[in-house]
Formats: sequence, C-alpha cells, structure tokens
Amino acid sequence: MTISSSPNRPHLPDQHEITDAFNARAERYVHDRWHQRYADQLVDVTPLRSGDRVLDAGTGTGFAACAIARKVGPTGYVLGVDLSRGMLAQARRIIDAAQLSNIELLEADATDLRDVAASTFDAVVCSAGLLYMPVEKSLSAWHRLLKPNGVVSFSTMTAGSPAPGRIFRECAAKFGLELKDRFAALGTADQCRAALEAAGFERTQVLADRVDFESLDRELAWESNFRAAGSAVRGLRQQQQDDLRQQYLHALEDDVRADPANAARCDVLFAIGHRPPRQDGPESP
Ligand SMILES: C[S@@+](CC[C@H](N)C(=O)[O-])C[C@H]1O[C@@H](n2cnc3c(N)ncnc32)[C@H](O)[C@@H]1O
Repeated sequence: MTISSSPNRPHLPDQHEITDAFNARAERYVHDRWHQRYADQLVDVTPLRSGDRVLDAGTGTGFAACAIARKVGPTGYVLGVDLSRGMLAQARRIIDAAQLSNIELLEADATDLRDVAASTFDAVVCSAGLLYMPVEKSLSAWHRLLKPNGVVSFSTMTAGSPAPGRIFRECAAKFGLELKDRFAALGTADQCRAALEAAGFERTQVLADRVDFESLDRELAWESNFRAAGSAVRGLRQQQQDDLRQQYLHALEDDVRADPANAARCDVLFAIGHRPPRQDGPESP
C-alpha cells in the first residue's frame, strides 16, 4: 500500500486505494441505513438556509447530498464531489429516484478543487469523509471555497469508538502489530475545534452524539477493519491472517454477549465552524 503522510494523520491511504475500496463497496454501501442516519444527523445540525449553495465533500452515494438538497430547497444547489466512480453511480441512482434536480455530481478530489473560484459556497459539508483526507489541507481548501460567514461541518467518531475497531486493534496486537486508531487525530471535541481554528474558522462548535449500529455484521466488521489496516495486516502469512480472523470473530462474539448495547454503541462528533465575516487579504490560489 502506498502511504502519504500528513502531520495530522501519519498513515493515510493512497487515493487510488481509497477509490478502489469504495468502488468495491458502493453497491452495498447505498443500502447501509447506518451511514444514511449518520449523514442525516450531520445535515440536521448544519445551519443551512433556503437557497444556499453547498459543497458535499466525499459525497459517496449521496446520502448527505440528498438531505442537503431538501434542506436548501429548489433555489439551492449542491455539488457532490467524490473520487469513486462506483459511489457516484449509486448517488446518481438515488438522486434520480428522489427526483432532486438541484444536485450536481463531480468525480474529483474534494480537497483540491483549484478550478473552483474562491468564495463560491455558503457551506461545505463532509460526512464521514475527513477520515480519508489530509485534515489541514482539506479544511484550508474548503475555507477558500466558502463565502465570508460560510459554514463548514464534518462528522467523525470519537477516539476508541466503535468497539469493533478497538477489538480489531487489540487482536492485531497479539500478532505483533501496533495499529493506530484512525479516529484518534480528530477523536475529541478539542481536536476538532483546534483543526478548524488552525484552518482559520471561528465560532466553532462540536456536538457529541451517538449513532448506534442497528446490528453488528461480524463479517463486514472483519472485512472493513482488515482492509483499513492495510499492508501491515496483509503482510502476515496466510495462516496468521486466518488465525487473526478467528480470534477477532470470537472476541466480537464475546463482546456482543457481554453487553449487546455497548457493542452496537457508536460515539460520534459533529464539528461546525464559520469562515470569518471579512476577507483579510488576497485569496490563496
Ligand atoms: C465513508 S464514505 C462517506 C460517504 C458519504 N459522505 C456518506 O456520509 O455516506 C467516504 C467517501 O469519501 C470519498 N473520498 C475519500 N477521499 C476523497 C477525496 N480526497 N476527494 C473526494 N472524495 C473522497 C470516498 O470515495 C467515499 O465515497
């Protein structure tokens, strides 16, 4: 796996790898009611007005884009940007089915929209996407794209949440692998606020909430944690990978049996910031 480095998150997957992974997940993702609820809740808490122009960064299958489109109404506009053609194809399907005509989709890097003019949007929303993006670069790029007073919002999980990820890291440690918590960089309200302020946002607000899983799909938990762990885990011999899988599925089973509600618990953060009202100087390119 190719690794790019970021001061906020030391190991970020290469964009081709992100694209391939989401192309492969797209058909299943679009039926995922948990992701739908997670996106809806972020849009609910984002202050949007009728007629707003909104960038949905990492739009995926368009869950947040559809919720935003309804909130800003027919005079508003949503640009949904994603790297994955497979996710965008699913987004197109659900947008057409919902008969929403105020959404455009673009296959591009949402952190590098240099052809889009500064101060284009009233809001930038990033639902469950910043995890895959360089935080500082993304927030700075979106700051440039926002009008003065414009709002940015993103969702993330708290450090250590959810349990299936933590249990995977504990099991991997028994095989000598020290895996980082992918949510640690933005895993607290203070970290979210600091990231927003470092990019020039003010009037920041971070809301702690829960979006619990309806049920735990153990195979899916294995698959997504295995894929997210990347080359470290794929470097294990096949027998070790099989052993890790067995141990993980047993540990998940034990966790669910011990406390089903806690096993499904998912603590999330919704972070919001505003571009200052006045432009302080020339826009960066
Ligand atoms: C977990 S999904 C979230 C999708 C959607 N926002 C939601 O709430 O369901 C993350 C999405 O971010 C996209 N993504 C990751 N990095 C990206 C980037 N640099 N530019 C655009 N999209 C990106 C992935 O392709 C994927 O579709």
